[in-house]
Amino acid sequence: MQAVINVKQIGRQFLQGTQTINALTAVSLTICKGEFVAINGYSGSGKSTLLNIIGTLDKPGSGELELFGAPVDFNDDRSLQQFRAQKMGFIFQNFNLNPVLTALENVQMPLLLTDLNSRQRREKSTAVLTKVGLAERINHKPGQLSGGQQQRVAVARALVSDPLLLLADEPTANLDSESTEQLMLVLKEMNEQSGLTVLFSSHDERLLKHINRTITLNDGMLITPGSQL
Ligand SMILES: Nc1ncnc2c1ncn2[C@@H]1O[C@H](COP(=O)(O)OP(=O)(O)OP(=O)(O)O)[C@@H](O)[C@H]1O
Ligand SMILES: [Mg+2]
Repeated sequence: MQAVINVKQIGRQFLQGTQTINALTAVSLTICKGEFVAINGYSGSGKSTLLNIIGTLDKPGSGELELFGAPVDFNDDRSLQQFRAQKMGFIFQNFNLNPVLTALENVQMPLLLTDLNSRQRREKSTAVLTKVGLAERINHKPGQLSGGQQQRVAVARALVSDPLLLLADEPTANLDSESTEQLMLVLKEMNEQSGLTVLFSSHDERLLKHINRTITLNDGMLITPGSQL
């Protein structure tokens, strides 16, 4: 199987005053194309830190990362920005929606980096918003949407550019059971039909039945084997 993510001995420390926090210690894992994987672990165990590094949004202090078979150069910001736009979708723990833009405008943002014209961007974004159940809310701004609806706008924005890899930090934390199920079905459908590789952090027991494999972090260390089970 083709490895999409290969994390090799990655470490990340944060300095807080005189204190050094080992957010990640020698984490190694491989995730292959088409896998649907959850990272769990208690609050502060390093889930967001690991997702941010895999998403090339943060640099590791030590170790190496390979994505789609090629080593990542964390110092090449321009290439990384393009790489992220072409291949990855992100759903952040706090949504990161732009408050002054409508749902439709937020979802269209990643498409500004593509060759699509404005009509195509609008159509594609409307289709994805419809898929996540927000057809009636495309002209609402984040402040006019519930937490769960904002989460779904974030999901639509992550999927609109047809990424190969979706990284999601607690994607169902703000969703009711029905919306959680709906989101999982959308992700599963993309996973099964287009081979989207999905990696997300979650404590949510409601998701267990959808997950093929779970990786557990404890104090920045992996406690289940990171290689494919
Ligand atoms: N920018 C930062 N500066 C200092 N310490 C940080 C920073 N980011 C994370 N940490 C620390 O690193 C550790 C791991 O944090 P991380 O956010 O990765 O945990 P998490 O597993 O995502 O937690 P949660 O479930 O609460 O989201 C924590 O102890 C946290 O306090
Ligand atoms: Mg987190």
